[in-house]
Amino acid sequence: TNTENQLLIIFGASGDLTARKLVPALFNLYKNGHLPENFVVLGASRSNLSDEDFRRRVVLESKYLEEEIKNGTSKAIQTFSGKIFYTDLGKEYDTDYSDLAERISELNSRFQTDNNYIFYLSTPPSLYEAIAKNICEQGLASEKNGWKRLIVEKPFGYSLESARQLNDGLHEYFKESQIYRIDHYLGKETVQNLLVTRFANSIFEPLWNRNYIHHVEITNAESGGVEKRGGYYDKSGALRDMFQNHLLQIVSLVVMEPPIGADAEEIRNEKVKALKSLRIMRDDKTLRENTIRAQYVSSMIGGKKVKGYREEEGVDPESTTETYAAIKFFVDNWRWADVPFYVRTAKRMPTKVTEVVVHFKTPHHHIFKDSGMNGKDNKLVIRIQPDEGILIKFGVKVPGQGFKVERANLDFYYSSLAETRVMEAYERLLLDAMQGDATLYARADEVEAAWEFVDPILEYWKTSDSKVYGYSAGVWGPENADELIEGLGMWRNPGA
Ligand code: BG6
Repeated sequence: TNTENQLLIIFGASGDLTARKLVPALFNLYKNGHLPENFVVLGASRSNLSDEDFRRRVVLESKYLEEEIKNGTSKAIQTFSGKIFYTDLGKEYDTDYSDLAERISELNSRFQTDNNYIFYLSTPPSLYEAIAKNICEQGLASEKNGWKRLIVEKPFGYSLESARQLNDGLHEYFKESQIYRIDHYLGKETVQNLLVTRFANSIFEPLWNRNYIHHVEITNAESGGVEKRGGYYDKSGALRDMFQNHLLQIVSLVVMEPPIGADAEEIRNEKVKALKSLRIMRDDKTLRENTIRAQYVSSMIGGKKVKGYREEEGVDPESTTETYAAIKFFVDNWRWADVPFYVRTAKRMPTKVTEVVVHFKTPHHHIFKDSGMNGKDNKLVIRIQPDEGILIKFGVKVPGQGFKVERANLDFYYSSLAETRVMEAYERLLLDAMQGDATLYARADEVEAAWEFVDPILEYWKTSDSKVYGYSAGVWGPENADELIEGLGMWRNPGA
């Protein structure tokens, strides 16, 4: 696909995301020949920086490009940094953007970016609407000549109501087709591969339903704690930070019906339908029995003391914010009726891993009664990260007399496709937005449907009926989480 000449304006450009993710992604796109001939980045924020200062900060002296700088690509680095500019917005984001508009117009004519603008909002979400309004007031959202796109970072809303308000607010100034809501999990190659595994093969889809699937388990574990983001995280928690967005996106790809075609609207229509079919939990009893939250407490890992969540910088010492969430739920539609889904996400786990495990039903008639396989199911493990790949667990005969059955693996790892370079999530997402492809971006109705499911859980967690458990940093969450999955054995704790 052709990437047209364009100007990318980043709001909140002096923040960490720009240096850590956006600029390295743009540099890789540049290096691999994906940027259009005429392409300029204009960073905007409230810091008083010159173009040169900004270039030094995000490119020339950036620790995120250290390798590149060392590896003698300095010529490429120099040329690339020449495409980067900065403008100080003055005091606040909610201000008159006429100076900004002038700078945009000057860069646009100087570099012939054809009036095609992408506005990337990487500021606190409370500013999104004001920024959209001010952009619009300068006539910069109008597509009379050249297209205009708006990329917004997460979190998108804090609750259903705030997400709706934000959608309504943005829609005052931009059409839905101009808005790109980032969910960086959709930029991951392996998340996209869920679609291909399901819909480009004929061997999985016939089994992909309640007749053959016993339950579905999704684990997202991180070994890190809240790091330097305690202030943000304490107001958010695992459910808002990971579950409402990344994990429900994965759920929607597992649950959705086959779309008519692979374009953005067809795929997203099916994802919305999937999200709308999640059974919303309304009463306290259901919520108590199907949701678990917990916080990590201080422990020793590898001989070193690790802080508990409540001792982290920026976190209220009496905080009840969850760093672990496990949710059991059902999907009310023809395909999934009565199949339980178990989804958990947490910080300070023994390892960093994200995977989807589809547990198939055991054969309905056991003929190898003493085989050792009784009660063991076939599993399809889709490993999102790390060791990206797909694994099928099935029974094989142990050589010798009788019919002893053993588990064997059939596996595929992405690393075996070594010649292809896998694009980093932000690279892929930026390139898609630059080309006007919104398939891997969340649509307004998707985001709202996800909040609709999450809202009652958050409400319930505010009540005293709901406990906050503790787990030692470095273990697989609180023991109580096993109750959730009781009768099924255990969570699959990969690599533990
Ligand atoms: C972000 C969350 O969206 O995703 C972080 O805000 C989390 O808390 C991160 O650490 C995880 O992303 P990844 O790509 O490392 O799995």
